[in-house]
Amino acid sequence: MAIPEGMEKIKVIGVVGGGQMGSGIAQLAAVAGYDVWLHDSDPAALGRAVQVISTSIRRLVSKGQLSQLVGADSIKRLKCTPNLEELGDSDVIIEAIVESEGIKKKLFSQLDKIAKASAILASNTSSISITRLASATSRPMQVIGMHFMNPPPIMKLIEIVRGADTSDEVFAKIKALAERFGKTVICSQDYPGFIVNRILMPMINEAFFALYRGVATKEDIDTGMKLGTNHPMGPLELADFIGLDVCLSILKVLHEGLGDSKYSPCPLLVQYVDAGRSGKKRGIGVYTYQKKFAAKPSSLL
Ligand SMILES: NC(=O)c1ccc[n+]([C@@H]2O[C@H](COP(=O)([O-])OP(=O)(O)OC[C@H]3O[C@@H](n4cnc5c(N)ncnc54)[C@H](O)[C@@H]3O)[C@@H](O)[C@H]2O)c1
Repeated sequence: MAIPEGMEKIKVIGVVGGGQMGSGIAQLAAVAGYDVWLHDSDPAALGRAVQVISTSIRRLVSKGQLSQLVGADSIKRLKCTPNLEELGDSDVIIEAIVESEGIKKKLFSQLDKIAKASAILASNTSSISITRLASATSRPMQVIGMHFMNPPPIMKLIEIVRGADTSDEVFAKIKALAERFGKTVICSQDYPGFIVNRILMPMINEAFFALYRGVATKEDIDTGMKLGTNHPMGPLELADFIGLDVCLSILKVLHEGLGDSKYSPCPLLVQYVDAGRSGKKRGIGVYTYQKKFAAKPSSLL
């Protein structure tokens, strides 16, 4: 694939975190013609990522949505590594690890030492301050939020978040990269939850309160929002899909960052996460799913 003008310098993309989001981002980048290094600290997660990506690419090829040539080329372009230092040659590194400010800051500080001086460090965080992540590095002008939606190969939106010091040049490059991935871009200032999660998470939290207070069954809450407001998924089903642990982390960031009790996480959501019911990726959340780590979507029981 020809690299458009202005994008010549981006050849290698590093992705840190091979979970739901990181594996999808790595797939998207490889299909768009970039060489990709995918790193996860958990070797089992890397194994699952390879399986999920190759199944997804095969499915796209069999549906005629991707040529056989591009599919095979994408698989060749993708390399997985348990060694973070292999990402040192990357022009852009996209972080998609656990939604914890402390853990992400530690990683950004490591990446700052490993990455070449010109590299851009992007975070797929759903809610954490880009300005604070940038403060863990010596290159705050080259740090930016690149918030993909789940699943990244399918969803059409990328929310770009500019930190206090993100340069215009870095913003322009990341916007062009997102467009090359075939996405529509929206731009948010760096405030907790940005645009999408600031609006989505209070709705998901309210659905948990409705369930917790016995207003209705989970099925009726989801059916009500699907058929009553024309949403493709109900809020509880969507929370399972996002990951209840991820939803809880985002609500905590909104609650702490905006200082309003309306963002306080519902006790039922907290209890599910405490019990390890983190959603579809673990086979159980609000609903129970047929298979653990199913590559194909499993139906709700
Ligand atoms: N799940 C969603 O719908 C969604 C949507 C948009 C953005 N996000 C954001 O994307 C990020 C990842 O979410 P996810 O749903 O893919 O989570 P996930 O739990 O599926 O994957 C996280 C991965 O990060 C790895 N990891 C954790 N710490 C690490 C470290 N220090 N170094 C390397 N790897 C590490 C874990 O082993 C795991 O494989 C979070 O910041 C989340 O808020 C999630």
